[in-house]
Amino acid sequence: MNFASDNAGPMHPSVLQAIVDANTGYEMPYGNDTVMPRVRDMIRTTFEAPEAAVYLVATGTAANALALSTYTNSWDTIYAHSVSHVEEDECGAPNFYSNGAKLTLVEGDGAKMTPENLRRAITKTGATDVHAAQRGPVTLTQATEVGTLYSVEEIAQITNVAKDYGLKTHLDGARFANACAALGCTAAEMTWKAGIDMLSFGGTKNGCAGVEAVIFFDPEKAWEFELRRKRGAHLFSKHRFLAAQMEAYLRDNLWLELGAKANANCARLVKGLQDIEGAEIPDTPQANMVFAHLPRAAHRRAKEAGAQYYLFPLDVSLNGPDDELIRCRMVCDWNKTNAEIDQLVNLLCG
Ligand SMILES: Cc1ncc(COP(=O)(O)O)c(C=O)c1O
Repeated sequence: MNFASDNAGPMHPSVLQAIVDANTGYEMPYGNDTVMPRVRDMIRTTFEAPEAAVYLVATGTAANALALSTYTNSWDTIYAHSVSHVEEDECGAPNFYSNGAKLTLVEGDGAKMTPENLRRAITKTGATDVHAAQRGPVTLTQATEVGTLYSVEEIAQITNVAKDYGLKTHLDGARFANACAALGCTAAEMTWKAGIDMLSFGGTKNGCAGVEAVIFFDPEKAWEFELRRKRGAHLFSKHRFLAAQMEAYLRDNLWLELGAKANANCARLVKGLQDIEGAEIPDTPQANMVFAHLPRAAHRRAKEAGAQYYLFPLDVSLNGPDDELIRCRMVCDWNKTNAEIDQLVNLLCG
């Protein structure tokens, strides 16, 4: 009963097999393997973007920070939601890789920035004055860090604001597959057709061992990204194993199939949580993650039986009033079984 993270699950067998299959003979290192051209073509086809520049890195933090840094001067500010991975969980990597650029936090319910708040933040920042940080790219997270989604229209509204000021836009798609499956849109519709310039396309949380694609829909700065990836120590010499994972992930749209499975697993979990007396779920879960407020007694039963998921605050005690609500996060990957989900729900229900 591990619901702590979609990182906690295994690799999909096809991805593992692809790594095994790639482990024969010799391949040129540093992205010059024979698999990478196929991956590039598959991503270009999937995204209907024949000109896109495509690179692989092993972590989502590297994908976000290196992608953003490509369009961020050291004196710029990056616009991000306060509840975003770049702000909360990357130890300042976007700032580090951008040589000290700052983040400007833009609010909105459900971890989604609003176009109005973005415009306000941009107009307050670095207009023409030397004293303020200058305007840099806008980054959105899809699915968000609380499991909500921007609709395609909402993405377009935000990118339109960015474009009014000539700013580039980035999508942190660590859970891109979950979002795309839930919205039922195409990969192109959720990205460049909605005004997104660059994407961190996640694989790790959805069946891969460790691979994310950085996709630039406009290849103008592709060479600069390559330099940054190398200089940032994220150009893998044994790159063929990253490429092999990504190829298996893209083949026959496995990425989308696994994203949909993870979402369905989460929907089953949420349905069960709603039956717990006193439970509150403030943000309607739309992808594969749920934040719920559940009675302490329910958590105690689940935790004592070995269930793993995060409670907030992290060090909250399970000794205390039974009916006091404690916030938690539960995440489903593609690999969860109905039995495992039902076991957790039954424990929580008591
Ligand atoms: C929204 C989001 N972006 C990016 C990442 C990638 O992080 P990591 O560097 O751990 O692969 C995560 C992982 O938790 C995430 O939730």
